[in-house]
Amino acid sequence: RPWRATILTLYPEMFPGPLGASLSGSALARGDWVCEARDIREHGLGRHRNVDDNPAGGGAGMVLRCDVLAAAIDAATGPDDARPRLLMSPRGRPLTQVRVRALSAGEGAVIVCGRFEGVDERVIAGRGLEEVSIGDYVLSGGEIAAITLVDACVRLLPGVMGKAASGDEESFEGGRLEYPHYTRPRDWEGRTIPDVLTGGDHGAIRAWRRAESERITAERRPDLMGKPRG
Ligand code: ADE
Repeated sequence: RPWRATILTLYPEMFPGPLGASLSGSALARGDWVCEARDIREHGLGRHRNVDDNPAGGGAGMVLRCDVLAAAIDAATGPDDARPRLLMSPRGRPLTQVRVRALSAGEGAVIVCGRFEGVDERVIAGRGLEEVSIGDYVLSGGEIAAITLVDACVRLLPGVMGKAASGDEESFEGGRLEYPHYTRPRDWEGRTIPDVLTGGDHGAIRAWRRAESERITAERRPDLMGKPRG
């Protein structure tokens, strides 16, 4: 069965968006995964299909109604649907490669894209939504965050990227950033490829790459150095 991304959004036209191109696009065309964008507004109230209202307690912005979002979630999921339900939000737990691996290995995800100032808190508990952030900055909505999460998952599906992604050499796999890469020409504007990489000693190449990974990680992401390498 294909990996299934069900995305609840007020902007369904944003999907598949960039996921329709490149590797994820080919995988989508092959049927390796499904991108199902559902318009929350179909469950909006009244003639104007209202989905939001003023925040209780006052303040700026609008809040997505819990009843409207719950109806959209219920219509998009069956009682036998075991997929995790995620709410893209800067308040969420930061997305990690470990979580991406777990999501990718499952059946898919139901992804709610927040807009406005927020989502009524009651629907988060009431429908078991798990808030996920893609980083400490604020996007104008969850859609681009959802695209990011789905891209990270889809590239790990069997046969989508081949051995480059399945390998454990890439950044974050093993808790380290990747070593530097080079290809021809050997000499470019006076900058040359490190001799070890062209010397044919594969043990020495492995050792050099490991040392470079450590050096770059310590320099750029000291926060990763204290963590287990799994
Ligand atoms: N929506 C707005 N900002 C976001 C972020 N950083 N991560 C996930 N969803 C978001």
